[in-house]
Amino acid sequence: MSTNYNRVAQILHWLSALLIIGLALGGLVMVRLADSVALKTTMYRTHAFMGTTVLLLTLARIVWIFVGKRPSPLPMPRWEQLAFTWNHRLLYVIILAMTFSGIGMLALSGVSLPPTTLTPADIQDVAPRAGHSLFSKVFIALFIMHVAGVFYYQFSKGDTLGRMGVTWLRSKKA
Ligand code: HEM
Repeated sequence: MSTNYNRVAQILHWLSALLIIGLALGGLVMVRLADSVALKTTMYRTHAFMGTTVLLLTLARIVWIFVGKRPSPLPMPRWEQLAFTWNHRLLYVIILAMTFSGIGMLALSGVSLPPTTLTPADIQDVAPRAGHSLFSKVFIALFIMHVAGVFYYQFSKGDTLGRMGVTWLRSKKA
């Protein structure tokens, strides 16, 4: 059994990570911009486009979990294994919740995809709006735990980033 994620899993992971970090940071900024700022509309459209792409990537990742070969589990105590497994599962759930609530917000406000005509004023006070905002905070908390766990493992136990293709930060203990 390989100790590394395969190339498809690595590419899907880093592409999703890049887009999701951009979505989280961009989302927090764009909702706080004044309506008069022209950039706000561009950010809303880019956000909805990137968010829909993340949904497709996440579905592809879920399929790949079952189709592709998984690496051997990292050696760690039982409680860390549980935290690792549930952090990953909940991240998938919250990412899906973010994308569904985002698309739901647009659909219930009468905006169709692709979001080329979306404007901030289109977003009505539909139920998924509050959900999207709340889920984004849960996502940020899970994401911080994920990154903290990765770096804790990387620098105290073994080369977990190397399994995901980042070989230049190789842990001396690996
Ligand atoms: C993993 C995917 C996503 C992440 C991490 C994300 C993140 C965020 C964040 C952090 C906000 C600001 C929330 C606030 O502070 O109130 C936001 C707002 C928003 N997002 Fe997303 N989002 C994602 C997917 C999507 C998708 C797929 C769509 C639509 C197709 C979408 C549409 C919107 C819209 C329209 C707003 C503005 C809501 C408002 O005006 O109150 N998002 N998003």
